[in-house]
Amino acid sequence: MDVKECIKGRRSIRKFTDEPVPTDTLEKIVELASYSPSWKNTQVVRYIAIKDPVLKEKIANECTTGFTYNANAMGSAPMLIAVTVLKNRCGYERDGSFTTNRKDTWQMFDAGIASQTFCLAAYEYGLGTVIMGIFDDTLSEVLEIPEDRELVNIICIGYPAESPEVPKRKTVADLITYK
Ligand SMILES: Cc1cc2nc3c(=O)[nH]c(=O)nc-3n(C[C@H](O)[C@H](O)[C@H](O)COP(=O)(O)O)c2cc1C
Repeated sequence: MDVKECIKGRRSIRKFTDEPVPTDTLEKIVELASYSPSWKNTQVVRYIAIKDPVLKEKIANECTTGFTYNANAMGSAPMLIAVTVLKNRCGYERDGSFTTNRKDTWQMFDAGIASQTFCLAAYEYGLGTVIMGIFDDTLSEVLEIPEDRELVNIICIGYPAESPEVPKRKTVADLITYK
């Protein structure tokens, strides 16, 4: 698959088959995602793969803010990936001060880049994904995320059981201005 096809063909998938995500494929995806750029090459993104059906069900039922759309997608996915970052590194100087006035928000930026790279890599392996930003704060406790890490987003992953249309895109003219 060439890069253009990968970028344009990836869709957010919210319905999955029951087929599990093979561990070796998951690890190839994580390896590809490790090539994402990061703040001063700090590489603060860490993934938690949730395949235990009981835990997955608990998250879908109790940690989706009552948003059934997300609960259904999570319930359908054979695996959830919790994307987390190690705190107090990204956006910082070695002496602990912030490098820019955007402070540590760069860790969100890095998690976003890594998440998209992860999703594109998954697509290359025939897997569908959807990034999720809507979930309860309680999810960090349910996943026992340690104090030195922050949960940023969830990615549902599995073999697709739907082929959604491309949601409408803005035109290039909408997106760029020149000076
Ligand atoms: C930061 C972020 C948060 C998102 N949160 C959700 C979510 O909570 N639930 C969901 O179904 N989709 C979520 N999405 C997926 C978007 O809805 C989707 O990317 C968009 O509709 C475009 O569709 P496409 O990914 O197929 O191109 C999120 C995407 C991003 C980047």
